Amino acid sequence: MKTKRITADEIKQAAQLLLQGELIAFPTETVYGLGANALDEAAVKKVYAVKGRPSDNPLIVHVSSFDMVKKYVADFHPATQKLVNTFWPGPLTLIFKVNPGTFSKVVTGGLETVAFRMPNNATTLELIKQAGVPLVGPSANTSGKPSPTTAQHVFHDLQGKIAGIVDDGPTQIGVESTVLDLTAEDGFPVILRPGAVTQSALQKLIGQVSIDQHLLSEKEAPKAPGMKYKHYSPDVPVWIVEGDEQVFRQAINWAKANKQKIGLYANDDLTQRFTDEAKAVFSFGENKVEEATKLLFAGLRALDEQEIDLIFAQAFPEIGLGSAYMNRLKKAANQKVLKKDSIFE
Ligand code: TXA
Ligand code: MG
Repeated sequence: MKTKRITADEIKQAAQLLLQGELIAFPTETVYGLGANALDEAAVKKVYAVKGRPSDNPLIVHVSSFDMVKKYVADFHPATQKLVNTFWPGPLTLIFKVNPGTFSKVVTGGLETVAFRMPNNATTLELIKQAGVPLVGPSANTSGKPSPTTAQHVFHDLQGKIAGIVDDGPTQIGVESTVLDLTAEDGFPVILRPGAVTQSALQKLIGQVSIDQHLLSEKEAPKAPGMKYKHYSPDVPVWIVEGDEQVFRQAINWAKANKQKIGLYANDDLTQRFTDEAKAVFSFGENKVEEATKLLFAGLRALDEQEIDLIFAQAFPEIGLGSAYMNRLKKAANQKVLKKDSIFE
């Protein structure tokens, strides 16, 4: 199969392909998604096959309006309207109890709930409207690899396996949406995956919102099935470096002593400082968590192509967007964090 690059003025054709059961990757503000008609079981099965995704990991259903959700859900949490008014379209996925018999088990992973999101991308909203059906949309990468933030990343992973990719340039946020479960027994919303809509932003709007414990302790079984799998990993091992230039200096010295070729993912200052000593550097620019988050997956993918043994990646405090950044980075690094003096232990 030849994978076609689709532009914004060819959306009608892309919608037709989706209705014929083909897979089309689409842009969103977070990462690129792998689209299929959520009501077409055979098409959804292809999504799992193409990504190599475990079948118990349910998909997010993408809609172009809140009205579209009402066809599939009757029992809404009281905070729903406020959340939708404030954060849709945007990087917030909401989990509802689904009307029985509406979606195939292939979409829900056999759960009694379904995740919905309205992405903030005009071309993709138009694509969903034209198709007239909701679209499943997992990140459009090979399962386990860093999520795609450009159409080129999607090509790299899925070329020849899907009908087309709608190219709308690099995504703005860089990590996947916040997943908020609205179906807990006690009625309190729970964050299952941190994203750009932060816990404090949610709490300001609707009161108490907790974070699923497994996000804090790795031992507990995750509620969002996708969170238990190894994720976002380049082939080259990643170590997080937490601290100032001194700690990077220690890490680089350790690498030299151990003949490790290093790829560095850090801000302008640090990458400039160590550009001669590292084998490869990828700067995310200014020392801001928004910038680091936007380019994280692109940086890991680019460094992975270099001849290096190890990636050192800069840490950020785990507050606000930093929670989402560190959540993805820790998964890529398999929790390996270097702090001051720790590399000599
Ligand atoms: O930003 C995003 O959300 C991107 C873009 C393309 O929209 N999509 C995305 O999809 O990240 P995916 O499939 O890579 O991640 C979906 C996450 C998984 O962790 C999955 O386990 C969880 O959402 N999930 C989906 N349905 C669920 C449900 N009913 N209950 C609990 N977790 C669910
Ligand atoms: Mg994913």
